[in-house]
Amino acid sequence: MTNNDHGRILKFHIFRFNPQTPGDKPRMQTFEIEEIPQMTIFIAVNQIREKIDRTLQFDFVCRAGICGSCGMIINGKPNLGCRTLTSTFKKPDITLMPLPGFELIGDLSVNTGKFNRALAERIQTWIHDQEAENRDISRLEERMDPGLAEEIYELDRCIECGCCISACGTKRMRPDFLGAMGFMKIARFELDPRDKRDVTEWYEVVGNDEGVFGCMSLMGCEDFCPKDLPHQTKIAYIRRKMIGAALAKK
Ligand code: SF4
Ligand code: F3S
Ligand code: FES
Repeated sequence: MTNNDHGRILKFHIFRFNPQTPGDKPRMQTFEIEEIPQMTIFIAVNQIREKIDRTLQFDFVCRAGICGSCGMIINGKPNLGCRTLTSTFKKPDITLMPLPGFELIGDLSVNTGKFNRALAERIQTWIHDQEAENRDISRLEERMDPGLAEEIYELDRCIECGCCISACGTKRMRPDFLGAMGFMKIARFELDPRDKRDVTEWYEVVGNDEGVFGCMSLMGCEDFCPKDLPHQTKIAYIRRKMIGAALAKK
């Protein structure tokens, strides 16, 4: 327990707007609740919904930093509601806003699912193996170097929460920009020896201004990824590969 998390009256200033309700207008609404030990933003907004306003909309599934549903802007920074303790804030005023860059469902709830589906289709987030039909299907497993498997697993830890997308100024200015979540997925599939896409095919997907050449190295993705994924390193890696592919085309 920290010094901050017992008995304070917290003031939550929460964005309210339901686009489905005719005439509704965006506004901030303040709710007061008493802080309890180990209170997370998830616990707090649940209390608000249970005890004060049953219409408050927000998304949570796992409460454990795994499902990626609870991304929101907490005191100005993208983060996961279920992994953020209220005690981390010295002042009792906490502002909650929905993640920008996504379609608003209502209040703090945004449609990351629609975004993630479109991203998956754009970069085809599945193993591409042109020789799959000729494989011996009686062999259930393929060998992989444990170090490489570990590296792929590291990049696969993305929970599709959208924090890196909301933290990116380029993505906010240019909706067609692929964004850091997309770069991370490309790095993951590019690394995987089972995926047979070559650098020329990746160049068609990401070797342009909507892709890695549009990234202005603002590094919000690196700073606010709750899974601490290595965005800076991977964006630099993809950029190097794409420059190589561009030079080879000349
Ligand atoms: Fe969230 Fe990080 Fe994945 Fe971006 S890369 S969606 S911030 S887990
Ligand atoms: Fe955006 Fe990250 Fe590039 S914040 S501009 S994708 S370094
Ligand atoms: Fe699943 Fe927060 S509720 S990550």
